[in-house]
Amino acid sequence: MNTPPRLVLGIETSCDETAVAVVDEQRVIRADLVLSQIVLHQPYGGIVPEIAARAHLDHLDELIAKALADAGIGFGDLSAVAATGGPGLIGGVIVGVMTAKAIALARNLPFIAVNHLEGHALSARLSHDIAFPYLLLLVSGGHCQLLIVEDVGRYTRLGTTIDDAAGEAFDKSAKLLGLGYPGGPAIERAARTGDPARFPLPRPLKGRPGCDFSFAGLKTAIRQLVEKWPPGAIGPQDVSDVAASFQAAVADVLTDRTANAIAAFKRRHPSGSNLVVAGGVAANTVLRERLATLAAAHGLALVAPPARLCTDNAAMIAWAGIERLQRGLTDPLDFAPRPRWPLDPTAAPARGAGVKA
Ligand code: KG4
Ligand code: ZN
Repeated sequence: MNTPPRLVLGIETSCDETAVAVVDEQRVIRADLVLSQIVLHQPYGGIVPEIAARAHLDHLDELIAKALADAGIGFGDLSAVAATGGPGLIGGVIVGVMTAKAIALARNLPFIAVNHLEGHALSARLSHDIAFPYLLLLVSGGHCQLLIVEDVGRYTRLGTTIDDAAGEAFDKSAKLLGLGYPGGPAIERAARTGDPARFPLPRPLKGRPGCDFSFAGLKTAIRQLVEKWPPGAIGPQDVSDVAASFQAAVADVLTDRTANAIAAFKRRHPSGSNLVVAGGVAANTVLRERLATLAAAHGLALVAPPARLCTDNAAMIAWAGIERLQRGLTDPLDFAPRPRWPLDPTAAPARGAGVKA
């Protein structure tokens, strides 16, 4: 008799999206809901952690009920409950973890605390049939890292940002240009009709050895550039040209650092064949094109999950839960949510201001 594939409920509440998904171990996403809180935070010009946590609390139960209904299942059909256990805004993480623990306790199901970064790192194995090890460029609003994904739970960090994350640079530059939040999609849209060569912007760390990143100087250059126009005088074509020049600079830097990481990856795993790009910024088409060319030049395939799996979602958390469940890696109900949780705890700390975990 065939046993049905195991199903895992995933919960993501570490930032400003309340997300719930049901995924099965044959890589079918049975339900995938994302509720954005953007309008709640807009009046404050950034995410307010208290508001985020309360909004997660207000909506999580109904989203879980809807996800189960979408999947056509009840709690009794689940094999485990997985929730983001960190890193992230701790109030929100606590809401997701407490909810998952309550379901696990009431239904006698295994509980799995997933590292949000591991969710991004393994998302490519949900969308594509790829084996370990692979090289990962993780580029999101909070993180910018190059890692070798050796196996579930085993990561070697090759580099990280010494100041801002790539997505943060997109968001801050978009704000300076008067484009909306989130900035990445807005800049990409504006850049489509812009001239990427009009403004020669800096490429921090480009050409230097190693795999670390820096974006603070680029953001400052954008501010100085924008301030050259009298208030209100910057025209739509100027905005498009700045956006295109900025996007080209970011893509240049990311490609340059990734080239160094490919060399390190090949030294360690000569037969490794995949470069994966994940996280919200991986939705950017110009970046994807540049990385595909780079990967091909080094005999690697570029694997990029669909945009919906790149930005924050719960399907990747449910999938990481499945990978962990399959290896018996479940967590006790006294797991403590972690505001900081590096994927490679042995990595040397990056030097610089504002370093993220
Ligand atoms: O992974 P994610 O949804 O959340 C975090 O864990 O941070 O990433 C969100 C980030 C935001 O900074 C957003 O501006 C950026 O991803 N982003 C993009 C694009 N779509 C989203 N950046 C560049 N181009 C895009 N198309
Ligand atoms: Zn994320």
